This record gives sequence, C-alpha cells and structure tokens, in this order.
Amino acid sequence: MRIPTCIPVVPKNAKKYVNAVIDKNWISSLCLDEDVNFIKKLEDGMAGYIGTKYCISTTSGSTALDLSLATLGIEPGDEIIIPSFTMIATAHAVVHNGGRPVFVDADEETWCMDISLVEQVVTQRTRAIIPVHIYGHPEKMDEINAIASKYNLCVIEDAAEAIGTQYKGKMAGSLGDMACFSFYANKTITSGEGGLLATNNEDFAKRANMLKDQAFGVPRFIHEDIGFNYRMNNLTAAYAFASFEEVEDAVDKRRKNARLYREGLSDIEGITLPPEKDYAVNSFWMYGILIDEKRFGLSKTEVKDILKQGHGIDTRDFFYPMHKQPSLIKKGYVKDGVLMPVSEMLWERGLYLPSSTNLKEAEISCVVEAIKKINQ
Ligand SMILES: Cc1ncc(COP(=O)(O)O)c(C=O)c1O
Repeated sequence: MRIPTCIPVVPKNAKKYVNAVIDKNWISSLCLDEDVNFIKKLEDGMAGYIGTKYCISTTSGSTALDLSLATLGIEPGDEIIIPSFTMIATAHAVVHNGGRPVFVDADEETWCMDISLVEQVVTQRTRAIIPVHIYGHPEKMDEINAIASKYNLCVIEDAAEAIGTQYKGKMAGSLGDMACFSFYANKTITSGEGGLLATNNEDFAKRANMLKDQAFGVPRFIHEDIGFNYRMNNLTAAYAFASFEEVEDAVDKRRKNARLYREGLSDIEGITLPPEKDYAVNSFWMYGILIDEKRFGLSKTEVKDILKQGHGIDTRDFFYPMHKQPSLIKKGYVKDGVLMPVSEMLWERGLYLPSSTNLKEAEISCVVEAIKKINQ
C-alpha cells in the first residue's frame, strides 16, 4: 500500500460543468452566458462563504498575493512584514512588487507569526503586514489588526492554506483588508491551479479587477497602470466551482482526519500535534507534527525514511524559513546573524502526514501504527 501526502478529490459536478463550458464555447475569462459563467458563480459563492463583499478570481494563490500588493500600490523599498515560517510565495509577492520583505519569527504555540515581535520591526517604511494562517490555523487577527491600525498599515491575509479556517467565529479571508486563497491541487478547494483575492473594500476590488486584466482602461488601449494577465479562465472556474460546492464536506473530512490522528498519536513521547487554540477552527489543510529527536529517539528525517521505505507512507517536510533562503539572502533581504529559533525548530522537527480529504480511516490507522512501531 502507498499512502500519498495529498491527492485531490474530483468533484461530483466537475465534468458536467466543464462540459457545459465547452458545449457553450465560453472557455476564456470572458463569458456572456450567465448559465455557464462559472467565474461569477465561483466569485459570488466564495464571497458568500467567506463573508466578504468582493472576490476576484486569479490564476493562482501566488498571483493573488502579487495582485494584492500591486492593488495596494507599494513603492520600491516599502517594507512588508511577513512570517519567516511560510511558503516562499508570500515573500516572492513582496519582492516582485519592489518591496522589502521583513521577517518575523513564529509563535511556538500556533506556528503562525509571533505577534509579540511584530511591533519591533515596524518602521517609517512599513506599509503592510501579511499574516499567514499556517497549515489551516488562524493567526491572532485582533492583535494584528490593532498593530495595523496603530501604524496605519494594510493587512493582507495569506489564506492560501485556510479555506474553512475560522477565527473567533469568523472566516479566514474576511479578517483583514484583503485576503488571498489558493486552489492548487492539494488545497481544500481545488482546480489544479487557481486562486482568489477577497476584500470588503470597493476601491481595492475595482483596482484589483483592473490590474489583473492588463490594466485596461477607457478608452480601451490606453493604460494608466502597469497590469498583469492574472485572469482565471472559465474552464478552470467550472472545475473550481464544482469543488467549491463541496467545501463544507471537505473541511469536515479534513477535521475528522485530524481528530483520528489526534486520538492515535496524542500519547507518544516526543511528538507534538498541531495546535487548535480556543479561538480557532483549524481547517487542517495539512496535518503537521513535530518530532523532538531527543525525546522520540529518532530525527524527523529518520522517521520520514522509515515511513516511506518500510510502510509506503509519504510525508513532506515543513517549510524552510524565509530568513534562511539562499535566494533572499543573496538579494540582501536578510540581516546578518539573524536568528529565528522557532521557525528553525519548526523546519528541523516538522513534517506533515498524509492529509488528503478522502483519506480512509484504515489509512490513518496504518500511519498511526507505523509511527507507534517506530517508537517502540
Ligand atoms: C502560505 C501560502 N501562500 C501562497 C501559496 C501560493 O499558492 P499557489 O500555489 O496557488 O500559487 C501557497 C501554496 O501552497 C501557500 O502555502
């Protein structure tokens, strides 16, 4: 038996909707037939689900992040605060927009950015904070928003991993000035590739819609801004909408998988399970665990190898921290000698276990038993 880290669910209506788009021949981002305008259905559906006024589809989570900073209109050298413990797309969006990423270490309890360190790195040049709801656990958004309003900063949630995540009863993606989602194949809603920007701010929505479409203006071929082609096509939207229709079931299943893992793994010395604070609904995009070599007896790399070679179980390393990335160090974005012990610890100890939505209970038992056996 092989258990992959994540395989996408093919939604029930995917073929029906994609075929409808083909049959009506509205395959690009332009669709004048309401019945098969899946871009609009997806954007309206997501806006209703998250609870924002506007949703703007894009080609990926990365381009949604690029678009959010372009919408904000950052200037060369503007500083954007991001967690060191994130996926590189968060940092790339800042760099692509001419900004300077400023990294903050992670919080040992939530694995998100450590809020107590944020204010120390605010300067005259700071324009925005991008909290990342890492692996599906929400950032402490009240604290982030309080800092942002004190220093007049914009808050862009990186909610790529957080469809269905809640903070104090509110959906991730509705908690800042803008938010970005990903529909990559391992995400809880997916169309293979795809993304979306959410906001309640009408000016941001208008500007994002304009910029993602090559900044076309009126008259049409005269451009006042530098734009992109980040338009999602209707075929992708048809698939994404079919996936979106199953979002509640998918989030429930990922949470159920997490519960089964927790029941199986909670008593093992040297393993830390993923957080779920009392203010949070963790959507458990991925089920990550930490392995403390001293207490468990083996390093995470040894555990990964045994799971793979001995049991056919795939796992994935946690993210390598941004302040350690050669690409960002070469560009001069990392201060010499900077230490971010929690992000480094998460990289050294963290791995995620198979986390597919449709993981079977027998597969979870197999992973749990394999880990218990290694620990004996
Ligand atoms: C935190 C985070 N931000 C951004 C992205 C980028 O999304 P995409 O792969 O759709 O470009 C990802 C993707 O996994 C992510 O995990």
